[in-house]
Amino acid sequence: MTLAQTLIFDFDSTLVRIETLEALADIALEGHADAVAIRAEVASLTDRAMAGEIDFGEALRARLALLPLTRTHIEALADRILDEGTPSVRRNLRFFNDNAGRIIILSGGFREVIAPVAQRLGVAPDRLLCNDLCYDADGRVTGVDDVNPLSHANGKSAVIKALGLTGPVVMVGDGWTDAEVKLAGAADRFHAFTEIARRDAVVAVADSEARSIDELLYAEGLAGRWSYPRSRIRMLLLENIHPAAVERLEEAGYSVETLKGALDENELIQKIKGVHVLGIRSKTNVTERVLEAADRLMAVAAFCIGTNQIDLDAAAARGVAVFNAPYSNTRSVVELAVGLTITLMRDVVDKSAAMHQGRWNKSAEGSRELRGKTLGIVGYGAIGSQLSVLAEALGMRVVFHDLSERLALGNARRMRSLDALLAEADVVSLHVDGRRENANLIGAAQFQAMKPGTLFLNLSRGHVVDVGALAQAIGSGRVGGAALDVFPEEPRTNADPFDSPLRGLKNVILTPHIGGSTEEAQEAIAEFAAERVLGYLNRGDTTFCVNLPNVQLAEVSGGHRILHIHRNQPGVMAELNRELSAAGLNILGQHLKTDEATGYVITDVDRDYDPQALRVLKTVAGTLRFRLLH
Ligand SMILES: NC(=O)c1ccc[n+]([C@@H]2O[C@H](COP(=O)([O-])OP(=O)(O)OC[C@H]3O[C@@H](n4cnc5c(N)ncnc54)[C@H](O)[C@@H]3O)[C@@H](O)[C@H]2O)c1
Repeated sequence: MTLAQTLIFDFDSTLVRIETLEALADIALEGHADAVAIRAEVASLTDRAMAGEIDFGEALRARLALLPLTRTHIEALADRILDEGTPSVRRNLRFFNDNAGRIIILSGGFREVIAPVAQRLGVAPDRLLCNDLCYDADGRVTGVDDVNPLSHANGKSAVIKALGLTGPVVMVGDGWTDAEVKLAGAADRFHAFTEIARRDAVVAVADSEARSIDELLYAEGLAGRWSYPRSRIRMLLLENIHPAAVERLEEAGYSVETLKGALDENELIQKIKGVHVLGIRSKTNVTERVLEAADRLMAVAAFCIGTNQIDLDAAAARGVAVFNAPYSNTRSVVELAVGLTITLMRDVVDKSAAMHQGRWNKSAEGSRELRGKTLGIVGYGAIGSQLSVLAEALGMRVVFHDLSERLALGNARRMRSLDALLAEADVVSLHVDGRRENANLIGAAQFQAMKPGTLFLNLSRGHVVDVGALAQAIGSGRVGGAALDVFPEEPRTNADPFDSPLRGLKNVILTPHIGGSTEEAQEAIAEFAAERVLGYLNRGDTTFCVNLPNVQLAEVSGGHRILHIHRNQPGVMAELNRELSAAGLNILGQHLKTDEATGYVITDVDRDYDPQALRVLKTVAGTLRFRLLH
C-alpha cells in the first residue's frame, strides 16, 4: 500500500533536534575569543529567518560569513548527526523506510550533514533537496552554490513547484520558509512541526500543529497502520504527585493533567471521562462506580505502597491494570529502624525530654552499643532482609524468622521458630506483612519468651502487636524500651487525636507512621510507578501489576503487538487464534498468562494485514479489553 500524498520534511528542528548552523558555530568557534557574541548573532539570524522577519538567502550568507568554517567542522557534525534525531522520528523509522518513495527532504541546510539522516530514513539521494557548500583549496567554506534556488529567498517553494508533483503535496516543518511552500501554492497542506521548536507565526498559518511525527500521521489519516499519537493519550494525576513522575510521562510524549488535591467519588466520576491513565495516592478512592464511568481508562497508577483504596477486582473485570510502587520506601524504613535501635539503646528520647525540662542527667547506666548485640528480625522480606545487611555492617549479630524460605544474607542465621528467635535476641524488630493471621502475632506469651530488657520495634503493621500486653511488658521490665511507628488504630488525619496505652511510658518512642515517608522515597515511588505505566502503555508489560497476570515483555520490534485481556473462561484462546488466522495474520510470537479470573494474551504479528480485520477480535466472547501497539 503506497501513500497517496507526497510528504516533504524540513530538516533542522524537524528530522533532527538541532539547527545546523548553530551546531556548526559551536564546533567552529571552540576556543574562539568572541565565541559567545558570534554564536548569539548566528542564533538571532536563524530565529529571524525562521520567523520570516528577514530574507532567507541573506541570513544564510550572513551566518556563513560570521563563522570560520572548514570541511573538518562539517565532517565532525555529519559524524554525530545520527545521534541528534528528533525522538518521534526515531520512533517512526519504520514509517519513513516503508514510505521513502513518497518522502522528500527539503532544506536550506547542507548535503554533507543531511545525507546520513536521509540514508537512515531510507530516502534516496535524489529525494534530498538541499544546499551544497563551496570550499577553497584549503578546505575552508567560502559560501554556498548560488545557482541553487534553495540558497535564496522562497527557494523551497520554487524547487517543489519545479518538480511538478502529482497527488496531494504535504509540507512539514517548523520554520517560516516551510510555511511559505504552502502559501506560495507549492503544497496542498502545511503541518507546523513543533516537537523541537514552536513559532507562533508559523503555527498561525498552518493547517495543523503536529507536536510529533505520530500526530502528523494521525492528521494525515495514516495513524492506524504505523502509530497512534501518544499526545492523544490523556493522563490525570491527582494528589500532587511528585514532579519526577509528571516529567517522565510528559517526556515520553503523553498529555498529563495534574491536580493538587484528591477528588471525591462524584467529582472523580465527572473528571474520569476520556482519561486513559489515572494517577492517585492514598486519598482517592477508585470505586466500582468510578470505574463504571471511566470510558477510556487503561491503567491506574497508585503513587504509593498500598492499593486498598482501589477496587482491584472491579478494575480487573474491566481490563484496567493497576500498578503501585511496593518497594520504593524500603530503605527509608530500614534507616529509621537502625536509628531507632540506637536511640533506644542510649535512652536518647527520655534524656532529651528531661533536658528540655531543665534536667541534666549524665550517666552511662543502661546505655549500650549496638556492636555485638543480637538483632532478631521477624519477617525477612524486602525490609527485613535489607535491615539485616545494615545491622551486620554496624557490628550486630542477626537472627531472623520467616514463614517462607528466605536466603540468609551475610552471616545472618535463620531461626526455625519465633520462640527460638525471641529467646536469643537483644533487639526484636517486626517486618512481617499485614495478613489477617498476623493479628496479635506478638502478645503476652511472646513478650514473656523474650530476654529481660529486650528492645522491641514495630515498623510493620499496627495489628500485629497486642499493645496492651506490650505496655505491661514495659511496666514489668521484660521489655526495656520500644519504638512503634504503626498502631492498631491510627488517626485518619493530622487533625484527629491519637490515643494508646503506650503514651507516657519510659523509653518508648512513638512515631506517626513515617517509616517510609521520606523525600527520596516519594521520588523513588514517582519514578517506579511512572515506569510501570510506561512499560504497560508502550510494551504491554504488566510486571508488578497488582490485579492482572504479570507478563514481562520486550519492546515491540519488527511487527505489531496485539494485547487481549479476557475473562478466564474456556475457549477464548481457541477463538482468538481462529480470528487471528482468519484475518490473515502471521504470528511472530505469543504469550499467555492467566490467573483465576483473568487471562492476558500478547500476540506479536507481522505488519502486513488489514487493520480493519482486527476489529473482530473485540467480539471474541469474554473479551475485556483489546489494544494494538505499533
Ligand atoms: N512504617 C512504614 O511506614 C512502612 C513502610 C513500608 C512498609 N511497611 C510495612 O512493613 C512490612 C514489611 O514490608 P516488606 O516490604 O518487607 O514486605 P515483604 O512482603 O517483602 O516481607 C514480609 C515478610 O514477612 C514474612 N511473614 C509474614 N508473616 C510472617 C510471620 N507470621 N512470621 C514470620 N514471617 C512472616 C513473609 O513471608 C515475608 O517474607 C509490611 O507490613 C509493610 O506494610 C511499613
